[in-house]
Amino acid sequence: MLAVVSSATSLGIDAIPIQVEVDIMGGLPGFATVGLPESTVKEARVRVQSAINNSDYLFPDGKISVNLAPAHIRKEGTGFDFPIALGILAAQGLIPIERLNKVFVLGELSLSGQLRPVRGMLAAAQLAFEQGFECMIVAKENGAGAALVEGLEVRTVETFRDAAHYLVTGETEKAPKAVPDVSQKTEEHELDLSDVRGQYQARRALEVAAAGGHNIIMTGGPGSGKTMMARCLPTILPKLDTKEALEVTRIHSAAGLTLGAGLIQTRPFRAPHHSMTRAGLVGGGNGIPRPGELSLASNGVLFLDELPEFSRNVLEVLRQPLESGEVILSRANATLKYPAKIMLMAAMNPCPCGNFGVPRKKCRCSPIEISRYKSRLSGPLLDRIDLHVEVPPVELVALQSSTLGESSANVRERVCVARALQKSRLGSSKLNATMTKAQLVETATPAPGAQRLIANAMERLGLSARGYDRVLRVARTIADLANSPVVDTPHVGEALQYRGDEKMLLAA
Ligand SMILES: Nc1ncnc2c1ncn2[C@@H]1O[C@H](COP(=O)(O)OP(=O)(O)OP(=O)(O)O)[C@@H](O)[C@H]1O
Ligand SMILES: [Mg+2]
Ligand SMILES: [Zn+2]
Repeated sequence: MLAVVSSATSLGIDAIPIQVEVDIMGGLPGFATVGLPESTVKEARVRVQSAINNSDYLFPDGKISVNLAPAHIRKEGTGFDFPIALGILAAQGLIPIERLNKVFVLGELSLSGQLRPVRGMLAAAQLAFEQGFECMIVAKENGAGAALVEGLEVRTVETFRDAAHYLVTGETEKAPKAVPDVSQKTEEHELDLSDVRGQYQARRALEVAAAGGHNIIMTGGPGSGKTMMARCLPTILPKLDTKEALEVTRIHSAAGLTLGAGLIQTRPFRAPHHSMTRAGLVGGGNGIPRPGELSLASNGVLFLDELPEFSRNVLEVLRQPLESGEVILSRANATLKYPAKIMLMAAMNPCPCGNFGVPRKKCRCSPIEISRYKSRLSGPLLDRIDLHVEVPPVELVALQSSTLGESSANVRERVCVARALQKSRLGSSKLNATMTKAQLVETATPAPGAQRLIANAMERLGLSARGYDRVLRVARTIADLANSPVVDTPHVGEALQYRGDEKMLLAA
């Protein structure tokens, strides 16, 4: 008898429906899996056989054929253990077809018959719901992830024995527990802007960056608070809306980072170490590539501390995703897209020893060492960073003062107002940092006085054409924070302070 069990495999952050067909025929005992299974799927045979034998059922004699349909999609992972094992029982007529047809299952089995969690559960649960399934049975640890899908009944079991007992007998009183609504965790942050003393200019720059979605780089000596302020950036960005939270959760679930958790409500903040590889940044791994730091930071902040210490070829791969907001990974067996809608925040010292230009400190670096240090950053990368900020050492008075800085909640309110203005002007999810050239011309052409200011700067400071556009984008955001429809002199004046060292940009 042929049994069909509904399940899924994950491809990127998406789940693809897979029908697990199991047939048992007489003849010599055997077990064959077809339908492009990777080795992890082929190994299911071993786990399934032991799990069934250790769960009060007998593994059947005879030739067992398992087909994973559609056959042209490559399958990997251990999630087919559970549907295959159920299919083997159903093929023996032990599970009524009408009961089996109502459930969607996914999970790994241990040799003893424990049901174990798998990656990508949220996407699989969304798929099950879209396909009209009433019920999904998953491992206990996957329950919260699957239960995020409203309207889907999620039942969790600890063992294959419990799941089989439920499906074979239909005894509802012993049925695996339905997962109640997952407790909605609220966002959590360790730091608050009120912890940052002094540093008014850097704080302001952080607010401008958050308001317009601009990438930002801070340069300053050791201990000036760059890392600390970077960690505060997510706390002044708007809270994640439901759509963003679901997307973040799906990405983290695809990376296998959220097996037990419910919806992620905290804006991502990722701070990979500078020894990170290209694959670590964009994604990769054997088989179907996993999301990298760029995607894990999507809808949030990617913080690259000590920017010049990153290898140049790692930094180069940032350019395309910064522009398009997504990462494309090509493999022999699949081309995948992962979201990478990030705000980049970078920090660096002014020179290898950190003291160049810092008052009362002596720099020990030679001019050649300094220029070599800076030249590790390519012009095209720096060109995608709208705000360049120099962070001086914290004043002792500021550190000793008992008055707290303004709280993140206050700053976030202004950021949200400025973002709402951009939304009504630019439509969709565009921000000043990502508006098109046409939109820039249409909405950020400065008033005559401000025009003259920019013209002067271009001449006196050697502002390049690409620097010009950056100044205008930032000035537009500063005008939004001031609720001004026109970009005027004070806005341009402030924006010019964040233009960065043009010479450094050009030299690189
Ligand atoms: N403005 C500040 N207000 C309050 N504490 C500060 C401030 N700046 C620095 N600190 C304190 O100094 C510590 C070091 O700061 P942080 O790590 O942010 O410096 P940094 O600029 O990143 O230095 P480095 O260049 O060495 O990485 C912080 O953990 C914090 O305790
Ligand atoms: Mg630091
Ligand atoms: Zn130095």
